[in-house]
Amino acid sequence: MIISFEGIDGSGKSTQAELLLSRLEKQGIDVLYVREPGGTAVSERIRSILLDPEAEMDPFTEMLLFSAARSELVRTKVRSVHESGGIVVCDRFFDSTVAYQGGGRQLADPEWLNRFQRAVTDQIVPNRTYLIRVDIETSTRRLENRLGADAAADRMEQAGTEFFTRVVETYDRIAAAEPDRFRVMDGRKGIDEIAEAIWEDLESLLST
Ligand code: ADP
Ligand code: TYD
Repeated sequence: MIISFEGIDGSGKSTQAELLLSRLEKQGIDVLYVREPGGTAVSERIRSILLDPEAEMDPFTEMLLFSAARSELVRTKVRSVHESGGIVVCDRFFDSTVAYQGGGRQLADPEWLNRFQRAVTDQIVPNRTYLIRVDIETSTRRLENRLGADAAADRMEQAGTEFFTRVVETYDRIAAAEPDRFRVMDGRKGIDEIAEAIWEDLESLLST
């Protein structure tokens, strides 16, 4: 089973993914935790190119690099755990590419990108995706707190408010298009309240 977390930078995805991971582990359930882009030697090298503020690149190249990092991670790590019935918790998965490169960069039709991503992951699709939804002001404030006001933003975080507005809109559209897979969480609520709502939903999914 694959459980993914999505949302804009600073929405609280990693906080929730880590809380879920420790809750599952406390129950004695073995979990593979992965964070995109990254998670393998090659994918981590691709990550450092993608987040380097000095690395200027064409948006199509950017999309292919995120996809290449994902392809490597899925084919070398995620697929075997998923196919043998294990649980994989993913801090971002292909919906990030549809939202950021399709919506944010306006690179390609999000529908096409969505189909392309099925090829990237060899048809592996998350069983459940939690979209942590916050407004851009909230996420910016949280990122500043997390980083410290004068720490440098990475290449993607420098993309600007209009970019992130399009990312939020695209996430909303793709969540609405797949209501069985997505659960949209109000990320402005408290950390524990969101974690509880996620746990309640997942428990019922695991028991079906
Ligand atoms: P993301 O992985 O989406 O970039 P993080 O989980 O790293 O976001 O959270 C960004 C910052 O916001 C962290 O400092 C975290 O402690 C804080 N944070 C996360 N969730 C909440 C929440 N629900 N309310 C207030 N602060 C939060
Ligand atoms: P990261 O530091 O992991 O950010 P976050 O804590 O928000 O997950 O950086 C990943 C950045 O890359 C983030 O800005 C989102 C972006 N991204 C894409 O643009 N496309 C993708 O397919 C993925 C996986 C991430």
